Amino acid sequence: MTIHIGAKPGEIAETVLLPGDPYRAKWAAETFLDDPRLVNEVRGMLGYTGSYKGNPVTIHGSGMGMPSLSIYANELIRDYGAKTLIRIGSCGGMQDKVKLRDVILAMTASSISTPSTGIFRELNFAPSADWSLLKAAAGAAEAKGVATHVGGIYSADVFYDERPDLNEQMIRHGILGVEMEAAELYNLALRYGVRALAVLTVSDHLISHEALPSEDREKSFGDMVEIALEAAFA
Ligand code: ADE
Repeated sequence: MTIHIGAKPGEIAETVLLPGDPYRAKWAAETFLDDPRLVNEVRGMLGYTGSYKGNPVTIHGSGMGMPSLSIYANELIRDYGAKTLIRIGSCGGMQDKVKLRDVILAMTASSISTPSTGIFRELNFAPSADWSLLKAAAGAAEAKGVATHVGGIYSADVFYDERPDLNEQMIRHGILGVEMEAAELYNLALRYGVRALAVLTVSDHLISHEALPSEDREKSFGDMVEIALEAAFA
């Protein structure tokens, strides 16, 4: 057990999917895993371990934002030995070609700051995805026929952004979407020599200002979970 995760040693798989929302962790585990078992509920941050096509998998909430994700990812990697961590979540589209429900595979994650800014200081480190996972996820998405974009995303510190000029620069520089967790997941994975990827569904759009109705989100979320699971065991 760690400060934030109540699972016993051996109850967390080497492959961990990380949705922000703990109830999405419950839904994904009950929908896609065989024999899902609740292994954590400290602070309501639900984590389940089961198997996918015979492979052990944990699906665990990360919470919203990089400080929250950093707590869970640190403990999963350093205390439980997680080796493959895939964020599954939603993002805001930032290019006209990126449509609602499309999937984005985040090759890199730009940010203003992350919990690692304190160690990088003046260095503009470029957090990037694991190539083997990225390649496998692109293949899985193509096989499923899901509209998918691969490229850079922006991991923001705030959802209610007061800097429209910054979003304009992101759009101008080809950033595909905005979310709030991937950059720190990539920093930690690179620091500890494990694999990470963010597989994202476009739930709203910063140019068109459209947003997915909540009843449409489940199907899109399901595609993303399957892409992540297929990529993990490719
Ligand atoms: N996650 C989903 N949509 C988002 C947005 N517009 N900004 C930040 N995070 C998001």
